[in-house]
Amino acid sequence: VSLKNFNTFGVDAHAKYFVEIAHEDELVELFMDPQWQQTQRLVMGGGSNMLLINDFDGLVIRLNIRGIEHRINHDDVFVEAGAGEVWNDLVSYCVNHNFAGMENLSLIPGSVGASPIQNIGAYGVELKDVFESCKAFEIATGKFKTFTKACCKFGYRESVFKDELKGQYIITFVKFHLSLIPQLNLKYGAIEQELANRGITEPTIKDVSQVVSHIRVSKLPDPSTIGNAGSFFKNPVITSAEFEAVHQKNPEVVHFPAGDGLVKLAAGWLIEQCGWKGKVVGNTGTWKNQALVLVNHGGATGQEVYNLSSQIIDSVYTKFGVTLQREVNIVK
Ligand code: EPU
Repeated sequence: VSLKNFNTFGVDAHAKYFVEIAHEDELVELFMDPQWQQTQRLVMGGGSNMLLINDFDGLVIRLNIRGIEHRINHDDVFVEAGAGEVWNDLVSYCVNHNFAGMENLSLIPGSVGASPIQNIGAYGVELKDVFESCKAFEIATGKFKTFTKACCKFGYRESVFKDELKGQYIITFVKFHLSLIPQLNLKYGAIEQELANRGITEPTIKDVSQVVSHIRVSKLPDPSTIGNAGSFFKNPVITSAEFEAVHQKNPEVVHFPAGDGLVKLAAGWLIEQCGWKGKVVGNTGTWKNQALVLVNHGGATGQEVYNLSSQIIDSVYTKFGVTLQREVNIVK
């Protein structure tokens, strides 16, 4: 089975077996079936944060559990969504119902079930700010478990599911805590700027959602036409001492405070300074408006994209002494 249409990089890798799961009980059946117990497995949501390096000699499980429900309690709103819902459909559902909290996360590609794994975030808001709990299938026992926010150990593009529990659970439902009373987050300069351009002085969550979508579309390539997985690297977080060394040689380095003696650098800036922005290398390259995004210009293999990412890591290290970490999951 070709996975080309199931990963936003559009890499034409093949899976030996492929199954789509629409209900939790199908998951239980699948994992109890002895036929599959020795087979390598890969769980996929929207395929928007992975790079497939090779064909997959095993079973690809695509989560397609659907459904969005909400419950209102005074000003609090609890929204529960199936792992297979498209993230942006959930955001639209909430924005249309005037449930506030996710509007800054508009237009992020991917599925609801994948959102807690790397604590998706954009424009000053992270998933953890609206996350209540999630339900997950424990592969080893075949039982379901609920994870509270504290259990998930969310950090910048991090969670327990990427770290100590990697590969052990499959998220089936996610519950969010939103509010009927908007608390807009307009910290991110480009949002305020664009609201001002539109002459909006008292923005609603719909306005914020539209403005965020506009900013994303102007900076990021649309995966339906140009294969990509958003930011390919994380923004590196370094100590103040390390920062001093970088800053001395590069006074104009783009940086943000990251709490407690830590500084976050803009990976896109570092990459651009190394001359990579908009560069085309074979079938791959970096995006012309955002150097942090690697793209498939058509027909690229996962290996080609991976090789480019290695070259970028090397040149950023040589120029700045900073090591970039890949944010996208590499599937070998
Ligand atoms: N920059 C450059 N050159 C570039 C790209 C960026 O100089 O080619 C500079 C910009 O001028 C800006 C700074 O870097 O001063 C930050 O750029 P931007 O606001 O575009 O955001 P980012 O830090 O590159 C992060 C997230 C994005 C998220 C945006 C907006 C990560 C790894 N990426 O990107 O998330 O949409 O902020 O909040 O944290 C993703 O994770 O896939 C993703 C797209």
